[in-house]
Amino acid sequence: MSIYILGIESSCDDTSAAVIRDRKILANLIANQDIHKDYGGVVPELASRAHQQHIIPVITNALSKANIQKNDLHAVAYTNGPGLLGSLLVGTSFAKGFSLAMGIPLITVNHMHAHILAHFIEDEQQGASPPFPFLCLTVSGGHTQIVLVKGHHDMEVIGQTIDDAAGEAFDKAAKIMGLPYPGGPLIDKLAGEGDPHAFTFPHPRVPGLNYSFSGLKTSILYFLRDRLKNNVHFIENHKHDLAASIQYNIVEILMKQLRRAAKQTGIQHIAMAGGVSANSGLRAAFRQEEAQGNWKTYIPKFEYCTDNAAMIAITGYYKYLEKDFSSQQATPFTRYSDK
Ligand code: KG4
Ligand code: ZN
Repeated sequence: MSIYILGIESSCDDTSAAVIRDRKILANLIANQDIHKDYGGVVPELASRAHQQHIIPVITNALSKANIQKNDLHAVAYTNGPGLLGSLLVGTSFAKGFSLAMGIPLITVNHMHAHILAHFIEDEQQGASPPFPFLCLTVSGGHTQIVLVKGHHDMEVIGQTIDDAAGEAFDKAAKIMGLPYPGGPLIDKLAGEGDPHAFTFPHPRVPGLNYSFSGLKTSILYFLRDRLKNNVHFIENHKHDLAASIQYNIVEILMKQLRRAAKQTGIQHIAMAGGVSANSGLRAAFRQEEAQGNWKTYIPKFEYCTDNAAMIAITGYYKYLEKDFSSQQATPFTRYSDK
């Protein structure tokens, strides 16, 4: 018998709903919130209001795209953290009400674990899933982690950022360059026509397998402040080289610790997950390691990299198999935890 699960994601500024049949995605719809562009970052109050407006239409459309009735669903899975509390509460309230109304199990999903489990979605364009154990570089707007993945429900963070996340580093650098939020994808686009070695920035010294990106942001800020003194058009004249150099540096910082982690653990199956894994520089660096025969790499399909409910649905599927259900008492959490 096939298992049908509805997945709901509302941790930040994307309202997403997906329907999965076993490991195959039948629908994965996302309503983005353009409103935050005017503010240079996500405004939590506006995000939760927009989720309220989007959630019913997105779920209704996902069910109709999947061509199933709500009575066909075996469970509802939703993100209960980490994320913005007001945003999480919208998905939480819907999922709890839906579970009660339909008499189906409620499944809580950790957003960061879901980014990793996106690798297990059955999709021709995605290739094979990584075998256990593997290392996953999980890079998003709020987190940067090296995770030792021993099983679908057995993950250990062995390195993480001590300040900014990689996505934040991209977004803050973009903001300094005067680009709108979120700047990560724009830096990526501009970098395609620039020289990654045009400008160099110092790399952080961080103990163990941890990361730091706040120093990079400060050095970009001071570098541009000095250059702009002599040439007010410096950023405009060098935007491609600047973007390429910033991207190269962030990717190199990410790769250095990841190479160290691979060496320390002896694991050569290396995956990436989270919004920043959409970055073409990071993808190229992974492919290069594979081409050199160092690693076997696993890169998720583009639409499963940034926030989406397909990853919530696949995590819900694996938890359903374990009968790992939640009660109506479940409360959302804002900061990363292992639960
Ligand atoms: O995982 P995600 O969609 O949301 C969070 O859970 O945070 O990640 C969003 C982050 C943002 O910082 C965004 O700028 C970054 O991922 N991002 C990128 C690219 N696409 C998204 N950063 C660099 N290059 C990209 N192509
Ligand atoms: Zn995310």
